[in-house]
Amino acid sequence: MHMYKGHARAYTNIALIKYWGKADQQLILPMNNSLSLTLDAFYTETSVTFSSTFSEDQFYLDNHLQDRETTVKVSRFLDLIREKAQSQLFAKVDSQNFVPTAAGLASSASGLAALAGAASAALGLPLEEKELSRLARRGSGSACRSIYGGFAEWEKGDSDDSSYAVPIPSNGFEEELSMIFVVVNDQQKDVSSRDGMQRTVETSAFYDGWLATVPQDLAKARTAIANKDFQSLGEVTEASALKMHGTTLAAVPPFTYWSAESMRAMALVRQFRNEGLACYFTLDAGPNVKILVEKKNESTVLSKLQEHFSADQLIAAHAGPGIKIMTKEVEA
Ligand code: DP6
Repeated sequence: MHMYKGHARAYTNIALIKYWGKADQQLILPMNNSLSLTLDAFYTETSVTFSSTFSEDQFYLDNHLQDRETTVKVSRFLDLIREKAQSQLFAKVDSQNFVPTAAGLASSASGLAALAGAASAALGLPLEEKELSRLARRGSGSACRSIYGGFAEWEKGDSDDSSYAVPIPSNGFEEELSMIFVVVNDQQKDVSSRDGMQRTVETSAFYDGWLATVPQDLAKARTAIANKDFQSLGEVTEASALKMHGTTLAAVPPFTYWSAESMRAMALVRQFRNEGLACYFTLDAGPNVKILVEKKNESTVLSKLQEHFSADQLIAAHAGPGIKIMTKEVEA
């Protein structure tokens, strides 16, 4: 009997400059570079065991065995790893999502990054950050950025080899930042990020405008990070999110991830700013709003938000670390 085990923990990340659209669906090559902040509040821990005694892949999420449809997605990703490692062993995957509430905040970024790390460790694949980032990308694009702590940029590249994330030197700027999650209660019907971005690339009249302006947004974000310029980073973060969400309105058929509650949270952020409190919002493929604020203003923004949202709708996160891979265990 051969048994190989690996274990990894990866943290989720939120894009400040969004990834939105694929140039290659199969390899998950993006249309544009993106830039993110890894956070400490949400992470996934995954153990992978490959064994000659298993006759199929099994996927447990938060201790529940998942159905075939969900397991097939994990199996396809494991196939990439088995192919690289020239292994035909089936696996048992055990993932725990650590999220402060059960409000749909579990992320594919932390999940796929942890899976890439744990499975690579088990089968003895290279564990250099660049290799892990390339591999995690094949599971979910945004996962390639969760290999790193703090700020990371996903360089889009034009091939499997050249598309991966790199850390952005920041002189510790991320330590000055908070991101407050506003978990809204009126969840919309889901359009997955995968389907939403594809529909947008294929049909949105606004997509070319999105692509044309990403390079200048990235340049502004990089400069803001280098100069520890919070206002400039906040402005470009909010602008990138608004533009990304704008593209969905011109898709065919059109859609939006925003709900009435999302708009209420966005309006509050604008109001706080008008009152002199620097904070900026971003949203991903769902209605929850994430507010970027300096740590020194976190408690003020939180207490103002508490006048409008309940305490369990508000979660403050800070910069988080890169992936942690626990050592490989082999049993003969
Ligand atoms: C809006 O990484 O979830 O969060 O590559 O299809 O798995 P796939 O998509 P995913 O998309 C994330 C989109 C986003 C923006 C971002 O994280 O950059």
